[in-house]
Amino acid sequence: MDNRAIGIMDSGIGGLTVAEVLHEKYPQESIIFIGDTARNPYGNRTQKEIISFSEEMKTFLLEKQVKMIILACNTITFTVPKRYYEENIPVIGMSLDAPCPEKARTVAILATPATIDSHRHKRRLQAVGGDRNLLEVPLPDLAGAIERGMDPSELALLAEKEISAYGAIHADAALLACTHYPLALNVLKKVMPETTFINPAEVTVDVAMKRLKSCHQLSEVPGKNIFYFTKTTDISKHLVKNMFGDNAHIETISLIGE
Ligand code: DGL
Repeated sequence: MDNRAIGIMDSGIGGLTVAEVLHEKYPQESIIFIGDTARNPYGNRTQKEIISFSEEMKTFLLEKQVKMIILACNTITFTVPKRYYEENIPVIGMSLDAPCPEKARTVAILATPATIDSHRHKRRLQAVGGDRNLLEVPLPDLAGAIERGMDPSELALLAEKEISAYGAIHADAALLACTHYPLALNVLKKVMPETTFINPAEVTVDVAMKRLKSCHQLSEVPGKNIFYFTKTTDISKHLVKNMFGDNAHIETISLIGE
């Protein structure tokens, strides 16, 4: 038994989509979430900036004495160096193992430019085999627009423009390799009506919880959830309330380098 909280971090509100899955499946686990909403988006930033901001968030969570950190952000997961994961507690990144529908011949990998530059999703899909056409689709503006709460019709125009530039509108499947994108799933479904969407959040949570279970570190007291943002916006408040209820505590904080 280990009643300490699980730390979850993202560049902004996207990581809430992973925290929500954790909360639904394991409500007894406490969550300490940090979203760097003031400096979002990370996906167009330099590697140096992404690493330094992520270090600040990790330090923040370690000081909160969490038992594990989940990087609920593909951009962070696939940009930070290996040593970032070397801590006294497990640091778990976004999973590459979300199952892809067998029949899908064309698969679009939707992600931020930084994640696409790592080519990790493409390599993983190539490694698991199958005769597939893999389209890497960097979306420079989508995560930021979701973070700002862009109106759905404008968001649809933006998504269509950015996705069609890579010929991916008719893909059989699309991997949501940015945790912000599930927040715009309804818009994406309209833009890509023939596509099956794959969200790696569930697999990521399963990997994390398997690890805690195997070390007998599940919580046995009712979970309490705290959400820290570097800028608390209406949309962040609205999402936290919707996903975690009225009792979830929200605080605005400042990180060292801001
Ligand atoms: N939510 C993030 C991800 O999964 C990043 C969005 C951003 O800050 O650009 O990649």
